[in-house]
Amino acid sequence: FRVTSIAVVGGDGIGPEVVAEGIKVLNAVLDGVQLVDYDLGAARYHRTGEVLPDSVRDELAQHDAILLGAVGDPTVPPGVLERGLLLKLRFDFDQYVNLRPSRLWPGTSGPLATVKPGEIDFVVVREGTEGLYTGAGGVLHKGTAAEVATEESLNTRYGVERVIRDAYARARQRARRKVTMVHKTNVLTHAGGLWARTFADVGRDFPDVVTEYQHVDAAAMFMVTNPQRYDVIVTDNLFGDILTDIAAAVTGGIGLAASGCINPTGDYPSMFEPVHGSAPDIAGLGKADPIAAILSVGLCLENLGHIDAARKVEEAVATELAGRVPGEPIRTAEVGDRVAVLVS
Ligand code: NAD
Ligand code: IPM
Ligand code: MN
Repeated sequence: FRVTSIAVVGGDGIGPEVVAEGIKVLNAVLDGVQLVDYDLGAARYHRTGEVLPDSVRDELAQHDAILLGAVGDPTVPPGVLERGLLLKLRFDFDQYVNLRPSRLWPGTSGPLATVKPGEIDFVVVREGTEGLYTGAGGVLHKGTAAEVATEESLNTRYGVERVIRDAYARARQRARRKVTMVHKTNVLTHAGGLWARTFADVGRDFPDVVTEYQHVDAAAMFMVTNPQRYDVIVTDNLFGDILTDIAAAVTGGIGLAASGCINPTGDYPSMFEPVHGSAPDIAGLGKADPIAAILSVGLCLENLGHIDAARKVEEAVATELAGRVPGEPIRTAEVGDRVAVLVS
């Protein structure tokens, strides 16, 4: 018997505020989890110049999971923390399944008059280790009139196949058994061709799963006009990033959207985090919605095999949301307190 051990990286802005509420709920729903705090983010960077020392990375690798708030701060040049901390962890720990569920919970109201609670229920399987995120490319003649910048999308058969296989397998566990592959094969013919062929090839192993393909521009439209149509969406790293902010918006807001950066092999820990960022505009005001962080704890528990605890977190969140009065401001800590009582 080994004690479950979770690394906690609050990070920047509202990150520590919402993660504190996630931890409240975690401690209320499950006994005996060991939590270890890591001081990473803008404050450490300013103090020491460090973003993610190798020794800290190696320590993080020893935990069963990582809970992360958000990183990124207006006082740090864009990319330093996002690339050096968040993406480094996703890449180094080979978290190739970036799982982002979207549901319109009873009690919440999205901006769409056409949908009722319960009608939106899909999950985006976003590729997490390749695409436009690898840093491939470069810049020449920087700062001159002759500046040239490239940003290359890296796609491997290995990487595309494993994430598509994961999406099919997830679809098989769901009632509708449908996968929509989203890309831009009409323009991005190199990478798009690889994705389309791989989607068809892997599909032969899942004859019971219904398949569909959409170009990403059309998918962005349908996500607003008819999000009910989706069950599982599989797509590349950048398309998945953009579509999941739309998905969050149509299901009650970015403050509710949870995610898991999953390494299905278990060779390294998976990481659980809200879809949202550090929200510098509301940091320190105690009004960030911690539900995304709390639901991320739920995903974490599910991934670690604590299925009952994960269900309790979901049910408590459902109760909390059902009791909300539209337009009424929320207090971060009060939401956490209520959900913690509901799970215990
Ligand atoms: P953001 O998600 O931080 O904020 C966008 C808008 O949503 C803001 O108006 C914010 O107040 C609101 N919002 C976000 N979370 C909320 C919550 N829980 N409750 C209520 N309102 C919430 O995105 P941004 O402004 O584009 O980025 C800010 C910083 O965060 C940048 O440095 C960016 O790189 C970083 N970022 C980090 C992550 C991450 O660590 N996973 C994700 C996205 C952005
Ligand atoms: C997200 C964020 C990150 C991403 C950034 C901060 C690197 O937007 O988790 O959605 O693009 O993946
Ligand atoms: Mn994003």
